[in-house]
Amino acid sequence: MHGHGDKILILDFGSQTTQLIARRIREQRVYCEIHPFDVDDERIRAFEPKGFILSGGPTGVYVQDAPNCSDLVFDLGVPVLGICYGQQLMVQRLGGKVQAAEHREYGRAKLEIIDEGRIFAGLRHEPGDVWMSHGDRVEKLPEGFQVLATSSNSPFAAVADPERACYGVQFHPEVAHTFHGEEILANFVLDICACKPGWTMASFVDHSVKAIQKQVGDERVICGLSGGVDSSVVAALLHRAIGKQLHCIFVDNGLLRLGERESVEEVFGRHFGMDLLVVEARDRFLQALDGVAEPERKRKIIGETFIRIFEEEAKRMKGVRFLAQGTLYPDVIESVNVRGPSAVIKSHHNVGGLPERMDLVLVEPLRELFKDEVRVLGEALGLPADVVGRQPFPGPGLGIRVIGPVCFDRLEVLRKADFIFQEELKSSGCLEQTWQAFTVLLPVRSVGVMGDERTYDETAVIRAVTSVDGMTADWARLPAEVLATVSNRIINEVPGINRVLYDISSKPPATIEWE
Ligand code: XMP
Repeated sequence: MHGHGDKILILDFGSQTTQLIARRIREQRVYCEIHPFDVDDERIRAFEPKGFILSGGPTGVYVQDAPNCSDLVFDLGVPVLGICYGQQLMVQRLGGKVQAAEHREYGRAKLEIIDEGRIFAGLRHEPGDVWMSHGDRVEKLPEGFQVLATSSNSPFAAVADPERACYGVQFHPEVAHTFHGEEILANFVLDICACKPGWTMASFVDHSVKAIQKQVGDERVICGLSGGVDSSVVAALLHRAIGKQLHCIFVDNGLLRLGERESVEEVFGRHFGMDLLVVEARDRFLQALDGVAEPERKRKIIGETFIRIFEEEAKRMKGVRFLAQGTLYPDVIESVNVRGPSAVIKSHHNVGGLPERMDLVLVEPLRELFKDEVRVLGEALGLPADVVGRQPFPGPGLGIRVIGPVCFDRLEVLRKADFIFQEELKSSGCLEQTWQAFTVLLPVRSVGVMGDERTYDETAVIRAVTSVDGMTADWARLPAEVLATVSNRIINEVPGINRVLYDISSKPPATIEWE
């Protein structure tokens, strides 16, 4: 926690956008953390915040057991910014009045700045759209407060007590497209709280290299590499910190894409010179999966087989005490339970999910980072752009993209088809526009004609989606010419496929993966 420079403490009252507040603050190169609204005084003091931000929340301040925060928030003598529920709570706590509303109000409103104070300093004074989502509204301000901005339907859209450095906004500055949202948060953090921006990737690398060295001493650490972004960055960071004390294990489960194993060997083995153990386990996975078609069973078998192999290999390396994992900040944030947590956590099989019974102490150097910060860190550590920018790939790999029973031949067919799809997406410049793009092999045969011959082969589905976080997704509007080329090439170049479909389902109700 130390060594990040000035820090902001965000108290989470359960809003869906609390994590966005943290993202925006860190974009100002100021470190911040999200804690539940009722975090205790001891932790607040230990954190030494230069300011507080109180998030929005789904309830009203007058409902029974409405979430509340410690007096220390207002007594510590550092600035406080209340957003939405946070504003109402602040107003109520400091002696003002909040009126309960019958209906929640969602959507855009026009904000008009009437007094810029410090929070709107330097901003254009023309009405702009802000994003509102609130039930209650402020009715009477506490003593010392004044109105800084109004909106079409809220006379107290922004309020402040400059003496006490307490600021409240009825709208959400953290949401993209809120008028001057970024500048408002920057003014609060950089000017009002006087934070010096010290949160940079270079400082993070320094800080975490020291922290890792201190935690690990001269002991050895193992790290499961999957080829994905998170485990790659963990490995690169640990390698920077402890060099030869790091031992990476890459399990070739036979469910990888074309060239994936070679790329891991190239980058980590040859380029970085890491101690990399590649475990050849293709047959073992295929045997375990033999005849299995049911998706959940496949996932279970693949996950368990992976864990067993990893354990065996770890045991073979004697005297290892630590296990490195790519846990990210969104998995760490303690979710607040006011009618729905602010962070939805999905449990999946991936390299991180190793059993506790391994008796290894965890090293989790990415615990403080968001996904896009992990990518920036990867770049700072010298990982190649195609590793850092890699699209998500499920732990069970092609095992859940070969629909129906998994066997070597069908995996090969899928690998070839997917390689063509990726190649065409890259050369047409479409790959960057998608969150994820991949191919699925269906166990459905249809009749076709190739030259003079009748074919009776399986079906490839190509899927490309746009998304922000994988929780919801839409199918990508790929140009028809790209789809045509992909289809032609797959049918002509991949024996075993004679029909290509494009998946035009969104999530929800479909999921991104087929299984
Ligand atoms: P779905 O299919 O649920 O997928 O819409 C959402 C995102 O999660 C990825 N995914 C996984 N990632 N282990 C992972 O690490 C898994 O077991 C797993 N299953 C799905 C999926 O590729 C998409 O990005």
